[in-house]
This record gives sequence, structure tokens and C-alpha cells, in this order.
Amino acid sequence: IKAIELNNSTYQLAKENLKEFDNIQVFNDDILSFDFSKLNEKADLIICEMLDTALIDEEEVPVLNRARKFLKEDGEIIPRGMINSAEAIFMNNHFIQYEDDEYSPIYVSLGESVVYSEFDFMDEIDCKFSAEMELKIYGREELDEIGFEENLNEERYEKFNFKENFNIEEDKLKINGIKITSFTKMNDNIICGPTPMLNPAMLIPIEETEVKCGDAIRLRLEYVMGGGVESIRTEILEINHMD
Ligand SMILES: C[S@@+](CC[C@H](N)C(=O)[O-])C[C@H]1O[C@@H](n2cnc3c(N)ncnc32)[C@H](O)[C@@H]1O
Repeated sequence: IKAIELNNSTYQLAKENLKEFDNIQVFNDDILSFDFSKLNEKADLIICEMLDTALIDEEEVPVLNRARKFLKEDGEIIPRGMINSAEAIFMNNHFIQYEDDEYSPIYVSLGESVVYSEFDFMDEIDCKFSAEMELKIYGREELDEIGFEENLNEERYEKFNFKENFNIEEDKLKINGIKITSFTKMNDNIICGPTPMLNPAMLIPIEETEVKCGDAIRLRLEYVMGGGVESIRTEILEINHMD
């Protein structure tokens, strides 16, 4: 087993924790420049957990793009891939927020989440990601079913005057963000949804826009996987009304 860790203090801890295993070799190096030729053979299995929501902020994709070249033809990678979905939301703050242990952003969902990308980590993946997606706003009946208007009376929404942004009678709703949910494919049979620790849902601001029930929002989402949240760009391309 060869373990490669970039951070020196993490490497020191790993070495200490693993010192009783004489079949594990730990390297303090950057996988992006590591000289794999010094390992005598290619890997049967690569385990790489540099995961984060939509793979934007950590280096899973660039690291795997390099490490994969040193995987045997019949080798495997764990985790195996990722599926990302997005939905239209209205949120309290107009900046990137994670729904994690320390922080619970206040937001309401205005439509179902739709899958906009799926990656198999066995494939070479372009770090520069760009997708156009269509996000559907709930129809009037769906809003009634989920008790949208009543829910806005909850204290957390009242505190931020959410109600001011929605007039269901007059068919006036507002969106100002999208919520990204990532699902990790551990293998062909196991999919792990978001947890506060692993890939918590991420809220990304978009231009504040008035919409109507049943509208379809065509939106472009771009980012660099491994390039950090600063690389995220969004653009509303078109709003299609139902009638
Ligand atoms: C998300 S953490 C892994 C956490 C681990 N799975 C656990 O549960 O404790 C990712 C690790 O990859 C290391 N790392 C990030 N980029 C790297 C690179 N280019 N080469 C080697 N290690 C890297 C980080 O220093 C960090 O220790």
C-alpha cells in the first residue's frame, strides 16, 4: 500500500499511526507532481477521498486525472463517481453558504432538484465544468401540497421577512439562488447522499429574479473542479412561462 499526503503534519500523523504496518509506505508529496515511476508497479486500487460538494473546492478531479494513469487496466477506484443535482431557491444571504454542522442557512426551495451532471471517476474528466440546466418552479398545486405559504410563518423565515418576496395570489415568486446536492457513488451499488460532514448541500447565489408558478428557468452553471468556489459562475439564460 502506498499512501501519498501533501500536508506535512498530516503526513507525520499518518506515518505515526501506521508505523506498525510494514506493508504501508507513506510519502509526503503532491500527487499532481509525484514521480509514480519510483513505485515498481501500477495500482490495483486507488482510494482518493478529496471530496466536497460538486468537487469544486478539493482536488479529487485533477488528482485522479493524474493518478489514474498509474492504475492497472483492470484496476478500480473508490469512490467511483459523483452525481450532482440543483434546484431553485430563495435564501437569506446572497453569498455561497453550506448547510453543514456549524451553519444552517435559511432558504426555501422553489422546485424539484434536477440532476445536471454525473461523473465516473474511471474516466478522464475535464476540470472546467459548464452545464446548462432547466430548473422548474413549483406549480400552484405543488406549492399548496408542500404548504409553502404556511411554512413562511415559521419564525426563522419571519425573521428575514421572507413573506415580502412571495405573493402566491398574484403569482409572484422570487428566486435568488440554487442549491447543489451531491451524491457520492461509492461503487455500483452504494450511493451516499450529503451529510453535514461529507459534501453538505451548497447554496449558490444567482441574480435575484421574479418568477411565476410553473416557470422553467434555463441557467448556466460553470466552475473549475479543484479550482475553488471563486471559480463558480452562474447566468440565467431564459425564463419560460407556462402559458
Ligand atoms: C478530505 S481529506 C481526507 C480525509 C480522510 N478521508 C479522513 O477521513 O480523515 C483530503 C486529504 O488530501 C490531501 N491532499 C490534497 N491535495 C493533495 C495532493 N495534491 N496530493 C496529496 N495529498 C493531497 C489533503 O492534505 C488532505 O489530507
